[in-house]
Amino acid sequence: MERRLDAGAMIWRNCCISLLLLIMLVSSSTGQLTASFYDVSCPDAQATVKKVIRQALQTDSRIGASLLRLHFHDCFVNGCDGSILLDDTSSFTGEKTAPPNLNSARGFDVVDTIKTQLESACNGTVSCADILAIAARDAVVLDGGPSWTVQLGRRDSTTASFNTAKNDIPSPALTVPQLISKFQAKGLSTQDMVTLSGAHTIGQARCSSFSGRLYNFSGTGKPDTTIDKTFLANLQQQCPQGGNTNQLQPLDLGTPTRFDNQYYRNLQANKGLLNSDEVLYSTSGTTNSLVVSYAGNQNTFFDSFQSAMIKLGNISPLTGTSGQIRKNCRVVNT
Ligand code: HEM
Ligand SMILES: *[C@@H]1O[C@H](CO)[C@@H](O)[C@H](O)[C@H]1NC(C)=O
Ligand SMILES: *[C@@H]1O[C@H](CO)[C@@H](O)[C@H](O)[C@H]1NC(C)=O
Repeated sequence: MERRLDAGAMIWRNCCISLLLLIMLVSSSTGQLTASFYDVSCPDAQATVKKVIRQALQTDSRIGASLLRLHFHDCFVNGCDGSILLDDTSSFTGEKTAPPNLNSARGFDVVDTIKTQLESACNGTVSCADILAIAARDAVVLDGGPSWTVQLGRRDSTTASFNTAKNDIPSPALTVPQLISKFQAKGLSTQDMVTLSGAHTIGQARCSSFSGRLYNFSGTGKPDTTIDKTFLANLQQQCPQGGNTNQLQPLDLGTPTRFDNQYYRNLQANKGLLNSDEVLYSTSGTTNSLVVSYAGNQNTFFDSFQSAMIKLGNISPLTGTSGQIRKNCRVVNT
């Protein structure tokens, strides 16, 4: 009698184990990311990322913005797979020299510092794609913005795409319908687009990114009429015709290193720096309403921002046994 019960219990237990294995298999093959991914394999991973960024901010108040943008540019090109971090070689052209990144994307040395520390703590464990996702969150938090739980378990690509970086990362000259379609192509809504544009509450842009608005907007021979007059005069002075096109201007002239809702209030005052910023307000419809709502309530913006960042980070990750965990974020493992 007792033996039979034992056998019954055993069958029941084996069945349970199989079921559990099946669930694990299914969840890994559907590409589920989890917050606890490194809890056992590299428990200090997130603390290390934050510590390195905090140090970097002491000498470079712009670094948070640059790291946040790297995650965006990574995720929009073949998913969040660390592809943007691969260096060009004589036989390989990656994403760093594609127009949206050339002379613009930065923060790679900070990613290297983080990676080196994580390799010495737990080698071959934390992916470069996950480093970018954690760094984006910590950059926002350390600049005074909202926090969120970062989903983890992305793996690194063995390739990159110059052409996809060139074509899929939105240009600052786009109209609202064009911006919406660029985000829709990545599974992100109009609201996500307006919300994530709020990242322009920190960081800098080169004159070349907006000088098209200052002198001869869309071939009209005149500046963009939606720009505030005083702001325009100031920008024309900072970015003279024939001047240095790499000269920098803050994306948010009010609080350029603080993650807040000032960006949306600038748009309402016709002081958006990029054309792609100002059109969100100057084009009537959903995007205008969202700008007004975020300008009026920072908590509404923060709530939307953290959920939109999780959606951004979920774009086509490599998981399970796809891709690899690069040892050096700049090169594919040999
Ligand atoms: C909506 C479409 C977007 C367009 C057209 C756009 C375009 C740009 C441009 C042209 C610059 C200046 C680059 C330069 O002159 O070097 C810039 C900077 C920046 N972008 Fe965007 N962006 C967009 C969305 C986003 C999103 C979704 C994020 C992140 C969630 C983001 C984060 C940033 C940050 C933080 C900077 C400043 C980077 C730094 O100072 O190093 N942008 N963006
Ligand atoms: C970690 O480093 C050890 C010692 O150098 C090496 O034997 C091991 O293969 C490495 N593990 C991974 C996953 O790279
Ligand atoms: C403005 O640009 C258009 C087309 O790009 C050009 O034909 C025109 O000559 C320019 N006007 C001025 C005043 O530079």
